[in-house]
Amino acid sequence: MGTNELFSIAAHHAARFRDAASNRPHRPLHDYADAVEAFSAPLPEQSSPMEDVLDKLVTAAEPGLHLMTGSRFFGWVIGGSHPMGVAADFLASAWGQNAGNHLVSPSAAAVEAVATRWLLQLLGLPSSCSIGFVTGATVANFTCLAAARGAILMQAGWDVDAKGLFGASPITVLIGDDAHTTVFSALQFLGLGHDRVVRIQTDDQGRIVPAAFGRAIADVSGPCIAILQAGQINTGAFDDFGSLIASAKSKGAWVHVDGAFGLWAQASARRRYLASGVDQADSWATDGHKWLQTPYDCGYAIVRDELAHRRAMTISASYLPLATEGERDPSHYVPELSRRARGFATWAMIRHLGRSGIEAMVDGACDVAAGMAQALAKEAGVAIENDVLLNQVIVRFGADLVQERGDELTRRTIGTLQREGAAFAGGAVWRGRQVMRLSVINYQTNAGEAATAVDAILRAYRAERPDNVSP
Ligand SMILES: Cc1ncc(COP(=O)(O)O)c(C=O)c1O
Repeated sequence: MGTNELFSIAAHHAARFRDAASNRPHRPLHDYADAVEAFSAPLPEQSSPMEDVLDKLVTAAEPGLHLMTGSRFFGWVIGGSHPMGVAADFLASAWGQNAGNHLVSPSAAAVEAVATRWLLQLLGLPSSCSIGFVTGATVANFTCLAAARGAILMQAGWDVDAKGLFGASPITVLIGDDAHTTVFSALQFLGLGHDRVVRIQTDDQGRIVPAAFGRAIADVSGPCIAILQAGQINTGAFDDFGSLIASAKSKGAWVHVDGAFGLWAQASARRRYLASGVDQADSWATDGHKWLQTPYDCGYAIVRDELAHRRAMTISASYLPLATEGERDPSHYVPELSRRARGFATWAMIRHLGRSGIEAMVDGACDVAAGMAQALAKEAGVAIENDVLLNQVIVRFGADLVQERGDELTRRTIGTLQREGAAFAGGAVWRGRQVMRLSVINYQTNAGEAATAVDAILRAYRAERPDNVSP
């Protein structure tokens, strides 16, 4: 079989999967054990024709796929892998570019340079920032914090990239109590420790309490990194960047913002106020595979001080004159040397949607989230637990019952919704209480899809809550 035919079959399977989405439940049909069974076979001793392998791959994989691209999928925070981004990413794979170096693949490097300019404009960040195209916000946080670590220790007269942490001045890390778990992982990877941090008190939405931050920063002497957040994973809340960044800067701290999805509020004239002052930070982590709808995997490590970014990541030695090196090598901004050419999908998504399309998508998701919250709150015993200002909604069922019964009812409602499959939402524990989480971030989720999902959620709730239930 020729390449053309093989690629056409793969494209056909991909399109069939996406087109059939509305007839498929929003849950995998196979569990993990079934999926292992479906792929299992003795180690192949002989080759097999490519079309047979493709066929077997599709047959084994499809039942265990989750409809994460679906219009009524509200789990975690997951973008919709827009067909435009998928098509560009197919090409990135087919072109097989190692995107590490501009001489080796001028196009893979150039598309990142142009997408960098576009991203900075969309996100309202200084045009001189550098961006590393990484796998997601986890590695973006890691990359930005590596730049932070290097820069603040350099100011203290220590080259951590050359000498390591042994013998360096201790770094104080200030972080909100409701920061995303992956930021703690990034600190762990960097030798800064996930527990060796000053956790700052947060309010009912997960925002850092400015007075508590002020007290913590007052105690700082020496190198300091302050980590803030744009978009709390459950509530979607933003830290008060204006006051916190000014306070952190008064002590010379590097301010990093985890904005995996929330930073995209900057793309909307109506929502930008939520992130007011965020552009004053030193580094920002965000995702393409969330609100920009690129396929997995795609994130952006954005750093104000390009030299600090390059010094932390560059594969060549840290004593080389980085600023005069000339053309942009993608590998200078990310941990890896060899990697896929993520810039093509980013460029294609921005080119396709344009600034106005991205703004409409962000606003659309936020409006849908607000509408879902309103509709759910009308039902007796249902409480919305967060201020729905962005795209996240957290819901408690049986809010009129004693807590254990409400928690149990919420868990059962989530379970029934997931089994029925008309929509998917997961759970979390927020302030000690079980909640259902709704993350509205798929480009296809409009008011009609949301209404169908609300019906499914209320159907699950009513089925789990017999009328005679006592408080
Ligand atoms: C606030 C926040 N930070 C970091 C992450 C990690 O992002 P990723 O899974 O893309 O690495 C997430 C993921 O949902 C997030 O919501």
